This record gives sequence, C-alpha cells and structure tokens, in this order.
Amino acid sequence: MTTPFWIAGKQASGDSTAVVRSPYDDTEAGRYAIPSTSDIEAAVAAAHAVRREAAALPAYVRAGALDHVSRVLAERADEFAALITAESGKPLTWARAEAARASSTFRWAAEEARRFTGELQRLDTDPGSTGRLALVRRVPRGPVLGITPFNFPLNLVAHKVAPALAVGAPIVLKPAPATPLTALALGEVLAETGLPEGMWSVLPVGNDQAAALVSDPRLPVVSFTGSVPVGWEIRDSVPRKHVTLELGGNAAVLVCPDWTDLDHAAERIATFATYQAGQSCVSVQRVYAHADVAAELTERLVGKVRALGTGDPASPGTDVGPLINAAAAERVQTWVADAVAAGARCHVGGQRDGATVAPTVLTGVPEDARVMADEVFGPVVAVNSVDSVEEGFRRINDSRFGLQAGVFTHDLSTAFAASAELEVGGVVIGDVPSFRADQMPYGGVKDSGVGREGPAAAMADLTEERVTVLTGVRL
Ligand code: SIN
Repeated sequence: MTTPFWIAGKQASGDSTAVVRSPYDDTEAGRYAIPSTSDIEAAVAAAHAVRREAAALPAYVRAGALDHVSRVLAERADEFAALITAESGKPLTWARAEAARASSTFRWAAEEARRFTGELQRLDTDPGSTGRLALVRRVPRGPVLGITPFNFPLNLVAHKVAPALAVGAPIVLKPAPATPLTALALGEVLAETGLPEGMWSVLPVGNDQAAALVSDPRLPVVSFTGSVPVGWEIRDSVPRKHVTLELGGNAAVLVCPDWTDLDHAAERIATFATYQAGQSCVSVQRVYAHADVAAELTERLVGKVRALGTGDPASPGTDVGPLINAAAAERVQTWVADAVAAGARCHVGGQRDGATVAPTVLTGVPEDARVMADEVFGPVVAVNSVDSVEEGFRRINDSRFGLQAGVFTHDLSTAFAASAELEVGGVVIGDVPSFRADQMPYGGVKDSGVGREGPAAAMADLTEERVTVLTGVRL
C-alpha cells in the first residue's frame, strides 16, 4: 500500500512513489507517494490563501483540534511507536516514549491556545498619553514552513505543527526524507480535526526541493530542526524571513565532587549517551568528572554500557539499535578510531555491525578530537577528569555549541553558578542534559541555533505583537 501525502488537509497520491527501509535490516517499512512541483505549489498557495481565516479561528476551535490530535495519538500510541521503530530503527521503548511525548506536546499546545491572549499596557505615564491604553495582541507572522529531522519523526513534527495550529498559522511540513511515514500518519489524525482547508500540508519532498520552499515569500516563517550547516545556510539565504533553528550540540555533563551516588550518575549517563543510538541533540557526549570521582564513575559507567543490549529495535530487550544508515555508523566509527589514534583509550565499544555502532566509552580524549568538538550523533561518550568545578564549567563552555548541560551536584550555590555561567539554552541540575519536558522552552545558543521550541515559547516565536491604542479611556 502506498501512503498518500497531504495537500491542504486532503490526501493526494502524486505520480511517483518511494520506499522507506528499516536501517536495521533493510526491510521495507513503507512506501509513500512523492509530491510533484504542482502539488508543492498547491500546498503553498493554499497556506497563503487561508492565512487570514486561520488567524481568525476562535480559540475553542484551535484548542479542540489540538486536543483531538493529542487524544488520538494516545489511543494509537502503539501503532505510531511501531511505525517510528520501523522507519527510524529507534528501539521500541524509546519510540513508545516519543509517542507519549507527542500526545503531551499537542495537549500543551491546546492548553496554551486557550490562554494565548496578549496584554493591556497603560500609556498614561506621560502627559501626552493621558487617557490612552494599549491593547497588545500577538498575531501570526504568517504561514510557516516546518522542516523536521529523522531522529524524532513524531515529536519534533509535533513541535512544529502544534504551536502553529495553536496560534492560527498555516503550516507546510517537510518531514525528513528518511522518516516521512510517521508524519504522513499524523496527517490522518489532523484530517479528522476539520480545520480549514490549507491550514496544514505534509509534503515528503527531497532535500533538494527545500530551497524553493525556504525562499518562497508566501512562507514568511521557517522553523528548522536539523544539522548545523544546513540550518545556518537557510538563515543566511533568507535574511528577511523569521527563521528559527534548533540545531545540534555536543552536550556535556559535569559530575561534581559532592555527588556521592555515582552509580546513579553512571546509570543516567550510560542510558542517555546511548539512547536511540545517541541520535538526539542532547544525548550525553562529553562527561567532565571531578578528579575525586572520575575513576569510580568511569568504572561504573563502563560496566553499565557493557551491559547494554544492541540488536533488533523491535525487540523489547534492545537498548541500542542502529543509526539511521550505515554511512552514519561508518562516520561514527571513524571518529572513534581517530580519537584513539590521537591518544584516547577505548574502554568498551568502537566496533560497527552494519548501521549499528557498539555503545562506546572513551577516556583521555583530546578536546580537539571530533568526538569531543563536533556532534557525534552516535552512542559514544568521552569521560575526562577535571580538577575543579570551575574547570568543568570552562571546558563545557569551550565549545561552539550550547544546547543543554547537566550538572550532578547537591550544592545550591554550584547549581546557581552553573545556571549563571554555562553558555547553553538549558541547565539540568542533578541529571543528564538529555532531560526535556515538552512544555519547557528548548533551544540553544552559539552554533546550536536560535529561538526556542516548546508550545508556549514557539507560539510567541511564530507571532508578533500588534498594538491597538485606545484613546479617551478612563483608567
Ligand atoms: C533533539 O534532538 O533536539 C530533541 C531532543 C528531545 O526532544 O528530547
């Protein structure tokens, strides 16, 4: 069966098809129809045409539609999880977690849609404005182009679609070419909402067709999640558009000397350095452990990583599945080998079997090795010892990225110092940087991007203030 795509909320079948294959065993995960140039034009034209109607939709209509999607995603969670696993190779446990998170993302957007209002500002603070009051509302900047990556085929789509619908902005979604099936299945649920025609489209087009969409003036907002070079290239190509970028990272964690439960820290690091094969922008990549705890932490971490099961992502015992394709796995393996050649020690892992990279722990890695300085996007973690908390902060900051950081400490002043000094979008105290609750503002600084996601933050981002000044008001 060929999965249709969605133009302006309606199924469409196109002239040609493509096959999605499992990164684990190359079996067919599904087949989908490819939009033609005229299909793309129809979707963009419809988004443009409906923009005023969409912006004027009452809150109860927007919130009701989002609630519906949230509810159905919860009801069909197993089906969505299986599809995520089939097309991305994400282990089923993590795919189930993603489906649950996507339901929560839509639920949060519904709640935010109900309270998304604006504010009153009194203007009579100077004699010239006596009797004047400003009504400051937020209105959509216009139709949105959402471009999403393969590593969360459902929830990162939810983070584009839900806030756009919540503010009444039409969205044209371009899912990752490797994992379009989940976004297309989400289309079935969106189609049940009865939102006006044109408010959403899902176009599984190739990356080579993205540039035309990015530059199309009828899509004044671009919200991109993906690789660093592509993200900045998009932003540089359309300086007059509103562009939000959620890019990569080399997330670090600092284990402070006051943290005595090293087994717990090692457990969390082992899990979140390797979950979904390290293909998360906030997967733990760099560990800085104080010299007092580094040896014990490393020993425990190596033991826990050694115990992780690799294999078929559909089987419940699998902790670490394949990367998105064999080329990605080959790259990760090369980076590990380069680090070892530069003096690092590989305690466990380093091998590759097809698209699967064995979970890997390195120590003594030079800061300029790619496994430290670049985004690995693989199940690889490097542990380095530091002599002080300050040195840990400095080394975390000594990176071109700044998405999230984790600090294992019980000390309140260290926690506040971390919050003040770490150059990242989010600091997690007492846990790994991989923690994300979907309502949180989420995004990075430096090369990690610009703007924030999370329904409330994204809704602010997709809208701009419009002031209405009332005169002759008795305040
Ligand atoms: C990402 O890879 O940036 C998303 C991480 C998450 O949503 O947990």
